[in-house]
Amino acid sequence: MSSFAIEINGLQKKFGEQTVLNGINLNVPEGKIVALLGPNGAGKTTLINILSTLVAPDGGSAKVAGYDVVHGKEEVKQSIGLTGQFAAVDESLSSEENLRMMGRLSGLSRTEARVRASELLEYFDLTEVARKRVKTFSGGMRRRLDLALSLVVRRPILFLDEPTTGLDTRSRRALWDIILDLSANGVTVFLTTQYLEEADQLADTIAVIAGGSIVAHGTPAEMKSRIGGK
Ligand SMILES: Nc1ncnc2c1ncn2[C@@H]1O[C@H](COP(=O)(O)OP(=O)(O)O)[C@@H](O)[C@H]1O
Ligand SMILES: [Mg+2]
Repeated sequence: MSSFAIEINGLQKKFGEQTVLNGINLNVPEGKIVALLGPNGAGKTTLINILSTLVAPDGGSAKVAGYDVVHGKEEVKQSIGLTGQFAAVDESLSSEENLRMMGRLSGLSRTEARVRASELLEYFDLTEVARKRVKTFSGGMRRRLDLALSLVVRRPILFLDEPTTGLDTRSRRALWDIILDLSANGVTVFLTTQYLEEADQLADTIAVIAGGSIVAHGTPAEMKSRIGGK
């Protein structure tokens, strides 16, 4: 049995004439945190969208939880949690209502959805504001709710697209702790970031994306010595 939660081989993606991914190769072992590090426009979101089956690749292949992202779309979707810059949060509802609704949509019973919602509110330190409309939330609260929503159904692999972009230092650290805790509980985490510091704090390995391919991959210590850490 393969011990890789995510296996990417020669993955290609073009938009019109623009080659965004030009042969991505990367393996992520089960239970590890990998940070995909690259500047704006490097193709991070495109890669996450392909791995989570939202966008089809033009070439190469990728497996998530052992399932091909093209031929095993449904199985992949059943294996992943996904959060990003496009969360399906209803702003006119409270966080509790959003979480319960997500639970019901994911097939939980009314009781299960209520229990799961209160667990997650507690975990993400949102219990006190559980009944407030999301409209009134700060960036950090909203990001924690977004993450909570992606965890309503427990999945072995979690994709996080720039989870801490735009957060203040305190919220960022709170989110890091949550991500580390998930990993300690066996969840494989694939996250993207523009910050070496964040990748360094969180990740077991860092993969640097540039020019459409992975140009370096290693532990934070290895990467810092190669990039000349800042
Ligand atoms: N649906 C799309 N249609 C056309 N171009 C796209 C589309 N999605 C992304 N791109 C382009 O692909 C490149 C990589 O984008 P993206 O994956 O969002 O990078 P990142 O997430 O690293 O900032 C950018 O030049 C972007 O404009
Ligand atoms: Mg992006």
